[in-house]
Amino acid sequence: MVPLVVEDLWKTFPRGDSPVTALRGVNLRVEHGEFIAIMGASGSGKSTLLHAVAGLTNVDSGRVLIDGQDLSELSDARLTRFRREKLGIVFQSFNLIPSLTAEDNIRLPGTSGAELDKHVDQLLERLGMQARRRHKPGALSGGEQQRIAIARALVCDPAILLADEPTGSLDSVTGQEICELLRQLCDEQQRTIVVVTHEPHVAMWADRVVVLRDGENLAEFDTRHINDPQEVASRYQSLLRVEAS
Ligand SMILES: Nc1ncnc2c1ncn2[C@@H]1O[C@H](COP(=O)(O)OP(=O)(O)OP(=O)(O)O)[C@@H](O)[C@H]1O
Ligand SMILES: [Mg+2]
Repeated sequence: MVPLVVEDLWKTFPRGDSPVTALRGVNLRVEHGEFIAIMGASGSGKSTLLHAVAGLTNVDSGRVLIDGQDLSELSDARLTRFRREKLGIVFQSFNLIPSLTAEDNIRLPGTSGAELDKHVDQLLERLGMQARRRHKPGALSGGEQQRIAIARALVCDPAILLADEPTGSLDSVTGQEICELLRQLCDEQQRTIVVVTHEPHVAMWADRVVVLRDGENLAEFDTRHINDPQEVASRYQSLLRVEAS
């Protein structure tokens, strides 16, 4: 079963007198254990696409299939359960709860019990956050908050991880560590990963880059053999240039 298929997805935001069509027939297919990066200029529809894939926004037409299940066929209650079972989501803003400690933020989507406690411990260790588990988000650096957001996304052991600009607010060293972590999750645990980014040095870690422009698929290219962010940047720029001319 292909973990993620998007078919001809359309989405318009009403926005008063000037509606904005954020998605204009987007298609996407991500294989098991594949790591893709979605690139595109600001406003090209990347976050809207990710929200639609997560079933967090209603679309006008088209389909999102997760493990063959059409999200639009699920009731709200079933969709919530399905999302929790299948998807881990890291939002563009971390969305941590300020009043909860790091470990309680991680625990949040799970149900209680010894199993969960063990898993939270494992995640804290894996992300190098054991020493800071009892800190609240306000006392954590941006990189640490990002790790906690990733741990929270992983706590229910999702097959698919969706992340919107996971390194957007991080310095380059911390950003690189987060990328290495995502790559490991893919290589060692065969998770399927979809990362939205406009940074070539993040996209470089993916297997494939999908480029959106004005809510449409513009092009895609293989990045499995590219280890140089400059090369990703020049490919990306040249695609945008070809389109503009
Ligand atoms: N809730 C909303 N209401 C109205 N318009 C919206 C809403 N969300 C997004 N849009 C519009 O849809 C378009 C696509 O937005 P989206 O957030 O998907 O872009 P993006 O590619 O993620 O951009 P960025 O790189 O800046 O995060 C933009 O024109 C945006 O203004
Ligand atoms: Mg966005």
